[in-house]
Amino acid sequence: MRAVLLSTTLFALLLGAIPMLACAEAAPSEEGSGETIKLPLPRMDSEVSLEETLAQRRSIRSFTTEALTLDEISQLCWAAQGVTRKDRGFRTAPSAGALYPLELYLVTPDGLYHYDPGAHELAVLSTEYLRGKLADAALRQSSVYSGSCIFVITAVYARTSKKYGDRARQYVHMEVGHAAQNLLLQAVALGLGGVPIGAFHDDRVADVLGLPGDHEPLMIIPVGHPA
Ligand SMILES: Cc1cc2nc3c(=O)[nH]c(=O)nc-3n(C[C@H](O)[C@H](O)[C@H](O)COP(=O)(O)O)c2cc1C
Repeated sequence: MRAVLLSTTLFALLLGAIPMLACAEAAPSEEGSGETIKLPLPRMDSEVSLEETLAQRRSIRSFTTEALTLDEISQLCWAAQGVTRKDRGFRTAPSAGALYPLELYLVTPDGLYHYDPGAHELAVLSTEYLRGKLADAALRQSSVYSGSCIFVITAVYARTSKKYGDRARQYVHMEVGHAAQNLLLQAVALGLGGVPIGAFHDDRVADVLGLPGDHEPLMIIPVGHPA
Protein backbone atom coordinates (compact mmCIF):
# COMPACT_ATOMS: atom_id res chain seq x y z
CA MET A 1 0.00 0.00 0.00
CA ARG A 2 2.73 2.42 1.03
CA ALA A 3 4.72 1.69 -2.13
CA VAL A 4 1.66 2.30 -4.28
CA LEU A 5 0.98 5.59 -2.54
CA LEU A 6 4.56 6.73 -2.93
CA SER A 7 4.59 5.84 -6.59
CA THR A 8 1.34 7.70 -7.26
CA THR A 9 2.71 10.72 -5.44
CA LEU A 10 5.90 10.58 -7.48
CA PHE A 11 3.81 10.27 -10.62
CA ALA A 12 1.91 13.41 -9.63
CA LEU A 13 5.17 15.19 -8.97
CA LEU A 14 6.51 14.17 -12.37
CA LEU A 15 3.39 15.47 -14.02
CA GLY A 16 3.70 18.65 -12.03
CA ALA A 17 0.12 18.12 -10.94
CA ILE A 18 -1.74 17.27 -7.78
CA PRO A 19 -4.51 14.99 -8.97
CA MET A 20 -2.90 11.93 -7.43
CA LEU A 21 -2.30 13.26 -3.95
CA ALA A 22 -2.61 10.02 -2.19
CA CYS A 23 -3.13 8.41 1.15
CA ALA A 24 -4.72 6.59 3.96
CA GLU A 25 -8.06 6.30 5.64
CA ALA A 26 -10.03 9.20 7.05
CA ALA A 27 -8.31 10.08 10.30
CA PRO A 28 -7.59 13.69 9.44
CA SER A 29 -6.86 15.07 12.86
CA GLU A 30 -4.04 12.60 13.47
CA GLU A 31 -1.92 13.70 10.49
CA GLY A 32 -3.13 10.70 8.47
CA SER A 33 -0.72 7.92 7.64
CA GLY A 34 2.38 10.03 8.06
CA GLU A 35 2.73 10.42 4.29
CA THR A 36 3.97 13.82 3.24
CA ILE A 37 4.31 15.61 -0.06
CA LYS A 38 7.28 17.92 -0.37
CA LEU A 39 6.17 21.03 -2.19
CA PRO A 40 8.32 22.66 -4.87
CA LEU A 41 10.01 25.87 -3.81
CA PRO A 42 7.75 28.89 -4.34
CA ARG A 43 8.81 31.37 -6.98
CA MET A 44 9.76 34.85 -5.84
CA ASP A 45 8.89 36.74 -8.98
CA SER A 46 5.94 37.22 -11.25
CA GLU A 47 4.91 38.61 -14.60
CA VAL A 48 2.04 40.37 -12.83
CA SER A 49 2.50 43.40 -10.60
CA LEU A 50 0.96 43.67 -7.15
CA GLU A 51 -1.07 46.58 -8.45
CA GLU A 52 -2.47 44.46 -11.28
CA THR A 53 -3.49 41.68 -8.90
CA LEU A 54 -5.22 44.21 -6.66
CA ALA A 55 -7.03 45.72 -9.62
CA GLN A 56 -8.04 42.32 -11.03
CA ARG A 57 -9.07 40.54 -7.82
CA ARG A 58 -12.73 39.64 -7.89
CA SER A 59 -14.60 36.89 -6.08
CA ILE A 60 -14.77 33.97 -8.49
CA ARG A 61 -17.35 31.28 -7.76
CA SER A 62 -17.39 29.13 -10.92
CA PHE A 63 -14.46 26.95 -11.87
CA THR A 64 -13.47 24.50 -14.59
CA THR A 65 -12.63 20.92 -13.61
CA GLU A 66 -8.92 21.48 -14.31
CA ALA A 67 -6.80 20.46 -11.32
CA LEU A 68 -4.22 22.79 -9.84
CA THR A 69 -0.59 21.87 -10.39
CA LEU A 70 1.67 21.12 -7.48
CA ASP A 71 3.54 24.34 -8.29
CA GLU A 72 0.31 26.30 -7.95
CA ILE A 73 -0.60 24.56 -4.70
CA SER A 74 2.87 25.30 -3.38
CA GLN A 75 2.64 28.97 -4.30
CA LEU A 76 -0.81 29.38 -2.75
CA CYS A 77 0.19 27.70 0.52
CA TRP A 78 3.30 29.82 0.69
CA ALA A 79 1.36 33.02 0.03
CA ALA A 80 -1.07 32.23 2.84
CA GLN A 81 1.32 31.01 5.54
CA GLY A 82 4.78 30.35 4.09
CA VAL A 83 7.91 30.97 6.12
CA THR A 84 9.89 33.94 4.85
CA ARG A 85 12.53 34.16 7.58
CA LYS A 86 13.69 30.78 8.75
CA ASP A 87 15.71 31.84 11.81
CA ARG A 88 12.67 33.50 13.43
CA GLY A 89 9.90 31.55 11.71
CA PHE A 90 8.30 34.71 10.37
CA ARG A 91 5.69 34.16 7.68
CA THR A 92 4.16 35.87 4.64
CA ALA A 93 1.21 37.05 6.75
CA PRO A 94 1.72 39.08 9.93
CA SER A 95 0.76 37.57 13.27
CA ALA A 96 0.20 39.23 16.66
CA GLY A 97 3.25 38.47 18.77
CA ALA A 98 4.46 36.14 15.98
CA LEU A 99 2.43 33.41 17.66
CA TYR A 100 0.94 32.00 14.44
CA PRO A 101 -2.46 30.63 15.46
CA LEU A 102 -3.55 29.78 11.89
CA GLU A 103 -3.50 26.37 10.24
CA LEU A 104 -4.11 25.65 6.57
CA TYR A 105 -6.02 22.62 5.30
CA LEU A 106 -6.58 21.71 1.66
CA VAL A 107 -9.40 19.64 0.22
CA THR A 108 -9.08 18.38 -3.36
CA PRO A 109 -11.15 15.73 -5.10
CA ASP A 110 -8.36 13.34 -4.04
CA GLY A 111 -8.34 13.96 -0.33
CA LEU A 112 -7.45 16.14 2.59
CA TYR A 113 -4.06 17.71 3.34
CA HIS A 114 -2.50 19.86 6.03
CA TYR A 115 0.20 22.43 5.25
CA ASP A 116 3.37 22.49 7.32
CA PRO A 117 4.87 25.97 6.80
CA GLY A 118 8.28 25.14 8.32
CA ALA A 119 8.88 22.16 6.08
CA HIS A 120 6.85 23.60 3.17
CA GLU A 121 5.14 20.26 2.72
CA LEU A 122 1.70 18.73 2.90
CA ALA A 123 0.73 16.00 5.31
CA VAL A 124 -1.68 13.65 3.61
CA LEU A 125 -4.57 13.22 6.02
CA SER A 126 -7.12 11.32 3.98
CA THR A 127 -7.88 10.08 0.48
CA GLU A 128 -11.58 10.19 1.12
CA TYR A 129 -13.66 12.40 -1.20
CA LEU A 130 -14.68 15.17 1.19
CA ARG A 131 -15.40 18.11 -1.10
CA GLY A 132 -19.13 17.39 -1.37
CA LYS A 133 -19.55 17.06 2.39
CA LEU A 134 -17.55 20.24 2.89
CA ALA A 135 -19.80 22.08 0.43
CA ASP A 136 -22.87 20.70 2.21
CA ALA A 137 -21.49 22.17 5.44
CA ALA A 138 -21.01 25.51 3.67
CA LEU A 139 -24.71 25.99 2.96
CA ARG A 140 -24.31 24.00 -0.30
CA GLN A 141 -22.50 26.86 -1.99
CA SER A 142 -21.62 25.92 -5.56
CA SER A 143 -18.11 27.39 -5.37
CA VAL A 144 -17.19 24.81 -2.73
CA TYR A 145 -18.55 21.95 -4.84
CA SER A 146 -16.54 23.07 -7.88
CA GLY A 147 -13.29 24.54 -6.55
CA SER A 148 -10.26 22.51 -7.65
CA CYS A 149 -8.64 23.07 -4.29
CA ILE A 150 -10.59 24.22 -1.27
CA PHE A 151 -8.43 25.93 1.33
CA VAL A 152 -9.74 25.96 4.89
CA ILE A 153 -8.06 28.30 7.34
CA THR A 154 -8.48 27.26 10.94
CA ALA A 155 -7.22 28.85 14.14
CA VAL A 156 -5.97 27.66 17.49
CA TYR A 157 -6.99 30.62 19.66
CA ALA A 158 -5.02 29.43 22.69
CA ARG A 159 -1.73 30.15 20.95
CA THR A 160 -2.60 33.84 20.95
CA SER A 161 -4.72 34.08 24.11
CA LYS A 162 -1.90 32.75 26.29
CA LYS A 163 -0.23 36.11 25.68
CA TYR A 164 -3.08 38.44 24.80
CA GLY A 165 -6.02 37.07 26.80
CA ASP A 166 -9.44 38.29 25.69
CA ARG A 167 -7.93 40.39 22.90
CA ALA A 168 -6.84 37.22 21.13
CA ARG A 169 -10.08 36.57 19.29
CA GLN A 170 -9.86 39.92 17.54
CA TYR A 171 -6.21 39.40 16.69
CA VAL A 172 -6.85 35.96 15.25
CA HIS A 173 -9.75 37.27 13.14
CA MET A 174 -7.55 40.04 11.80
CA GLU A 175 -4.89 37.50 10.93
CA VAL A 176 -7.18 35.25 8.94
CA GLY A 177 -7.98 38.27 6.78
CA HIS A 178 -4.29 38.82 6.10
CA ALA A 179 -3.69 35.20 5.17
CA ALA A 180 -6.82 35.00 3.04
CA GLN A 181 -6.02 38.13 1.07
CA ASN A 182 -2.47 36.90 0.45
CA LEU A 183 -3.90 33.69 -0.94
CA LEU A 184 -6.53 35.42 -3.05
CA LEU A 185 -4.03 37.85 -4.57
CA GLN A 186 -1.60 35.03 -5.28
CA ALA A 187 -4.40 33.17 -7.03
CA VAL A 188 -4.93 36.17 -9.31
CA ALA A 189 -1.21 36.37 -10.06
CA LEU A 190 -1.33 32.71 -11.12
CA GLY A 191 -4.31 33.27 -13.42
CA LEU A 192 -6.60 31.49 -10.97
CA GLY A 193 -9.65 32.67 -9.08
CA GLY A 194 -11.08 32.21 -5.63
CA VAL A 195 -13.67 33.45 -3.17
CA PRO A 196 -13.58 33.93 0.60
CA ILE A 197 -16.40 31.95 2.19
CA GLY A 198 -17.61 32.89 5.64
CA ALA A 199 -21.04 31.27 5.53
CA PHE A 200 -20.71 27.74 6.88
CA HIS A 201 -21.57 25.64 9.90
CA ASP A 202 -18.42 25.68 12.04
CA ASP A 203 -19.11 22.38 13.77
CA ARG A 204 -20.00 20.58 10.55
CA VAL A 205 -16.86 21.81 8.78
CA ALA A 206 -14.77 20.72 11.77
CA ASP A 207 -16.49 17.36 11.65
CA VAL A 208 -15.96 16.82 7.91
CA LEU A 209 -12.25 17.64 8.21
CA GLY A 210 -11.84 15.75 11.49
CA LEU A 211 -10.21 18.81 13.01
CA PRO A 212 -8.52 18.58 16.39
CA GLY A 213 -10.75 19.97 19.15
CA ASP A 214 -8.79 23.22 19.47
CA HIS A 215 -8.89 24.05 15.73
CA GLU A 216 -11.76 26.33 14.73
CA PRO A 217 -12.53 26.83 11.03
CA LEU A 218 -12.60 30.53 10.17
CA MET A 219 -12.61 30.75 6.41
CA ILE A 220 -13.06 28.53 3.38
CA ILE A 221 -11.45 29.58 0.09
CA PRO A 222 -12.26 27.56 -3.03
CA VAL A 223 -9.65 28.16 -5.74
CA GLY A 224 -9.60 27.02 -9.35
CA HIS A 225 -9.44 28.03 -12.98
CA PRO A 226 -12.22 30.53 -13.62
CA ALA A 227 -14.98 28.99 -15.74
C1 LIG B 1 -15.78 37.78 5.62
C2 LIG B 1 -16.34 37.49 4.25
C3 LIG B 1 -17.24 36.45 4.09
C4 LIG B 1 -17.73 36.14 2.82
N1 LIG B 1 -18.54 35.04 2.68
C5 LIG B 1 -18.94 34.69 1.45
C6 LIG B 1 -19.72 33.51 1.27
O1 LIG B 1 -20.05 32.80 2.21
N2 LIG B 1 -20.07 33.19 0.00
C7 LIG B 1 -19.71 33.94 -1.08
O2 LIG B 1 -20.05 33.56 -2.20
N3 LIG B 1 -18.97 35.07 -0.94
C8 LIG B 1 -18.58 35.45 0.30
N4 LIG B 1 -17.79 36.57 0.45
C9 LIG B 1 -17.38 37.34 -0.73
C10 LIG B 1 -18.19 38.63 -0.90
O3 LIG B 1 -19.50 38.31 -1.31
C11 LIG B 1 -17.47 39.50 -1.94
O4 LIG B 1 -16.21 39.84 -1.45
C12 LIG B 1 -18.27 40.77 -2.24
O5 LIG B 1 -19.46 40.46 -2.94
C13 LIG B 1 -17.46 41.77 -3.05
O6 LIG B 1 -17.08 41.20 -4.30
P1 LIG B 1 -15.54 41.05 -4.70
O7 LIG B 1 -14.88 40.12 -3.71
O8 LIG B 1 -15.57 40.44 -6.08
O9 LIG B 1 -14.90 42.37 -4.67
C14 LIG B 1 -17.32 36.91 1.71
C15 LIG B 1 -16.42 37.96 1.89
C16 LIG B 1 -15.93 38.25 3.13
C17 LIG B 1 -14.92 39.36 3.28
